[in-house]
Amino acid sequence: MQNYDSFADRIDATKKEKSSSIVLAVDPTCEAENLFDYVSHIISQLHEYVCAIKLNFHVILPFSKIELKKITQIAHDFNLQVIADLKLNDIFDTNQVTIRYLASLGFDSVIVNPFIGKINLKSTVEYAHSLNFGVISLVYMSHSDAVEGYGASLTIPNSFDKRENSKPVYRIFYDNSKSVGVDGIVVGGNRLDILKELRSKDNEALPIYSPGIITQGGDIKSALEAGSTYLIIGRAIVNSDSPLNKIKDIHDLIKDLEY
Ligand code: XMP
Repeated sequence: MQNYDSFADRIDATKKEKSSSIVLAVDPTCEAENLFDYVSHIISQLHEYVCAIKLNFHVILPFSKIELKKITQIAHDFNLQVIADLKLNDIFDTNQVTIRYLASLGFDSVIVNPFIGKINLKSTVEYAHSLNFGVISLVYMSHSDAVEGYGASLTIPNSFDKRENSKPVYRIFYDNSKSVGVDGIVVGGNRLDILKELRSKDNEALPIYSPGIITQGGDIKSALEAGSTYLIIGRAIVNSDSPLNKIKDIHDLIKDLEY
């Protein structure tokens, strides 16, 4: 049966059902002998402890359409949402085609770079939502030199309010993302000050997806306390000696923290 809930509602429901805010980044950095078997096995093994999987070019490029449909079907059979991490950064017409393909392959949402500007972001969100497809907007990345872009300040052309005509990039991205109704934003889980600032900006804050946990130095408790809603975790789990034990430990920790 077709699910008419929005992506934001679907992932929130799974988060509650599984008591898990973990988005598993199935982005294998190792050479798997059979990538399809590896990916389907890791999802089947860990599905109980996660609310969604995130797939990147690591699997989207090498897999055929049939393989991608099988993977998204496996995820859906376990009641997981599927996020395409393409950091989409193009004009609306191109984003529209991309989203149409992703939706037909069974993806539930895509990560988009708000650098495209508010008008193109708005059209992209409206089109995505017409398919019950989600858009997650990249507001501040977790890697260390992300500060060069997301942390820089921009002068906004044609700004009437001279006091407001220079703003940090991430604030512009946040304001634009919020005003066009994206389903969530990405802010690194190691960017505690930014998380706190955006979380305290308004009461109806957007769900925040945070990568940068463990491998890039982010601490789970601190990120959740600062405002992360979902934790995107990849290498710390999939590259560990026992992905199952590792994810169980992380899941227990999050449950104890009651987020
Ligand atoms: P880890 O470090 O847990 O990262 O292996 C998991 C995946 O998340 C992606 N990644 C990001 N994606 N903004 C994003 O949209 C970020 O700041 C960011 N940092 C990491 C990356 O693709 C990796 O595979």
